[in-house]
Amino acid sequence: MEMNTLFEKRRSIRKFQPDKPVTREQLDRLLKAAMLAPSACNTRPWEFLAITKREMLDKIAEIHPYAKMCETATAAIVVVALPQTKEKPEGYFPQDCGAATENILLEAAGIGLGACWCGVYPREERMVSIRGLFNIQEPKIPFNIIAIGTPDEAPGQRGFFEAAKVTYID
Ligand SMILES: Cc1cc2nc3c(=O)[nH]c(=O)nc-3n(C[C@H](O)[C@H](O)[C@H](O)COP(=O)(O)O)c2cc1C
Repeated sequence: MEMNTLFEKRRSIRKFQPDKPVTREQLDRLLKAAMLAPSACNTRPWEFLAITKREMLDKIAEIHPYAKMCETATAAIVVVALPQTKEKPEGYFPQDCGAATENILLEAAGIGLGACWCGVYPREERMVSIRGLFNIQEPKIPFNIIAIGTPDEAPGQRGFFEAAKVTYID
C-alpha cells in the first residue's frame, strides 16, 4: 500500500528551532485549514488564539505539565471550543474541534512546520490554568494547545496500519 501523503509526513514535534519565527502568513494558512474542517450541522463551534508572544509561550510551558516544548516553539494556537447549545448538534464540539486541530497539524506538515497537539479538555486542572492565563470565560472551553515552529528533531513515524483493527463487511 504506497502512500506519500501529509498523513505520513506529520509527526508530533517537541523540539523546535527557537530562532525561526512562525510568520503571520503561515499562521493564517493554519487557521484557514482549521476553519475548513467539517463540523456537526456546520455549527463551527470554535475560536482560536494565535500566539507568538514569547512571554505567553513560556507561561504555557510553565503551567501545562506536557507542553514544555512551548519553550522552543515560536508560536502556538489555542483551540477554544464553543459548546453547542441548540438541541440538535449538542455534544459534538470535541469532535468538531478535534477535526479542526488535525487540519492544523496536517497543514503545518505541508508547509514545513512542526506541531504538537497538547491536550487541555477534559482535564479540569489544565482547563482552569489555561482559562486563567488567557482570560477565557465560560461557556467557552480551552480545548487544546498546538505548539508550532520549525522542527529541530526528526522523530520516526509512530502511527501505523493494523489490519487486526479492521472488520471488513463485504
Ligand atoms: C488528544 C491528544 C492529546 C495530546 N496531548 C499531548 C500533550 O499534552 N503533550 C504531548 O507532548 N503530546 C500530546 N499528544 C501527542 C501524542 O502523544 C502523539 O500524537 C502520539 O504519541 C503519536 O505520535 P505522532 O503524533 O508523532 O504520530 C496528544 C495527542 C492527542 C490526540
